[in-house]
Amino acid sequence: MNLAVLGAQWGDEGKGKIVDLLTPNFSIVARYQGGHNAGHTVYANGRKFVLRLLPSGILHPSITCIIGNGVVIDPVALFAEIDELAQAGIEIGDRLLVSDKAHLILPYHRDLDLLSEARRGERRIGTTSRGIGPAYEDKIARRGIRVGDLANPASLEDAVRHNVDARNRLIGAEATSEWKTMDRRDVLAGLERAWTRMRPWVTDVSVFLARARQEGRAVMFEGAQGTLLDIDHGTYPYVTSSNATIGGVCTGLGVGPKAIDTVLGVAKAYTTRVGEGPLPTELTGPIGDRLRETGKEFGAVTGRPRRCGWYDAVAVRYAVRVNGLDALALTKLDVLDGLPELQVCTAYRCNGATLTEMPGDHAQLAACEPIYETLPGWSAPTQGVKTYDQLPREARAYVARLEEITGVPAAIVSTGSGRDETILREGVLSRPLAIR
Ligand code: IMP
Repeated sequence: MNLAVLGAQWGDEGKGKIVDLLTPNFSIVARYQGGHNAGHTVYANGRKFVLRLLPSGILHPSITCIIGNGVVIDPVALFAEIDELAQAGIEIGDRLLVSDKAHLILPYHRDLDLLSEARRGERRIGTTSRGIGPAYEDKIARRGIRVGDLANPASLEDAVRHNVDARNRLIGAEATSEWKTMDRRDVLAGLERAWTRMRPWVTDVSVFLARARQEGRAVMFEGAQGTLLDIDHGTYPYVTSSNATIGGVCTGLGVGPKAIDTVLGVAKAYTTRVGEGPLPTELTGPIGDRLRETGKEFGAVTGRPRRCGWYDAVAVRYAVRVNGLDALALTKLDVLDGLPELQVCTAYRCNGATLTEMPGDHAQLAACEPIYETLPGWSAPTQGVKTYDQLPREARAYVARLEEITGVPAAIVSTGSGRDETILREGVLSRPLAIR
């Protein structure tokens, strides 16, 4: 069975832990979109790893990891991540494959990201400043530079000259010492170094995956960010620049839809968001602070505090529909331990009307008030609980109610950051998965 694992909220749902945990059931783990804006935190063997570009299966020694054409790659960030893992004793060797069609994030993309945010002022997106948006802009505008282009220095020089000149013109008047004019020779030298190191990993990922599937190798497709940050289906324009939703698997790896047997959405037992944009269930008072502190809700990439709120079942139901989710992995249930009561948003009140579906317009969403259902909390700790039956009765009732409102079962319930702090519920997915 091939499985897609993707975010059912605004990112940071804990996909890294889930992918890492399920990896032993697969032979290949493939990332299909996003870049090093992602921060997938995995705790393994008592250590914390933050994976940004590398698929979260990389910690398992026999797994082949793929970075698909839908991902945007900053080679400096990729090498830094590989070097960090090497220092921790994890060698990549020939286990990494990188699509020749993946677009590159170059130094000017980061500058353009910062500039764009500065120019937007109050309307800023709150990006991760990693150059993600401008790299995808170049891709869509058909002037991007792809990994495979590094093999052809003559045409590469031409493309880099064109893009660096455009960057220098755009930054123009803002060219203070911080925004100094960029020299294309520096960019080219960086790309030459990148090619030397990357070359052995570069391949046609679509061909590789087709052959692997013929040989019966099972694949896990790993999403970054989340459904509500998707460029098409998210809270536009407060979104990232790629398709984090299920369609991104096909376009971002060159596989057909039938290659995906099961779709698992990852959702926290509450809601968080980092960056700007509407968040209907946001809690700005003491409960929000408590969720942030207990859940360590600070960005894995930027360290920014995350905005926290109650579980938004309208948003997750939307993710179920847009992605065709078969089941959920519900994470961080333990963060709710000790709260006397819990609220779940079941619908929105907007201009006197009751909405049960997410509105497409961000201003309308921002004007929505959540309609809450109150559920009792639990006092016994759930942290580290490994079987469903051992959860306090109220925690089981909470999970059951979320399943009911969102219309999909929770195949996995996570009760802590460690691999073993997990409940795997038998019989929910069509093929039983083991966790290790
Ligand atoms: P960008 O992807 O850096 O352009 O940022 C666009 C929006 O997506 C901002 O609100 C970011 O905070 C958000 N974002 C990007 N990547 C992640 C992620 O991995 N987790 C959560 N939010 C993210």
